[in-house]
Amino acid sequence: MKKQNLPEEFIEIISPILEHPEFQRRKTYAHHGKVSVYEHCLAVSYVAYRFAKKVNADYRSAAIGGLLHDFYDSPWQENTQKKKFFEQHGFVHASEAAKNAWKYFPDIMNEKIEDIILRHMFPLNIRPPRYLESWIVTLSDKYVSMEVIKDVKHLHHYVGIKKRKK
Ligand SMILES: [Fe+2]
Ligand SMILES: [Fe+2]
Repeated sequence: MKKQNLPEEFIEIISPILEHPEFQRRKTYAHHGKVSVYEHCLAVSYVAYRFAKKVNADYRSAAIGGLLHDFYDSPWQENTQKKKFFEQHGFVHASEAAKNAWKYFPDIMNEKIEDIILRHMFPLNIRPPRYLESWIVTLSDKYVSMEVIKDVKHLHHYVGIKKRKK
């Protein structure tokens, strides 16, 4: 997705985050396959923004929540440390992302955006989203990610769980 092809209004909403050096660093994080965290989050943000506009929801929060939903600490695929099942990426990265969002963007964050980030892994994280915009982002994330999954065998990869070697 090229930034120059995106609507001005959308760019205006997301620029303070997009241009921040900490967010720029996500260009170097591999998310799924060749897609970086930066690219993935930008795609989810844009899909969520369009979706929210269509249903007259709060498109600003949807765009920001979408952009920050995977703002977790470190590239999970490079992490070779053995972790307990519930400590694996799929379970912990949403709370990491919320913590980082507050740390780097305290003036932009609010309770709704926090809910969007925290609940985006529903139903893997069993607490359901509280806001319409949280539902929009969790669905947009799945939609964008499904395009990446070409084979069901890679599904464990999408949810961030390492497959056990037999
Ligand atoms: Fe995620
Ligand atoms: Fe995601």
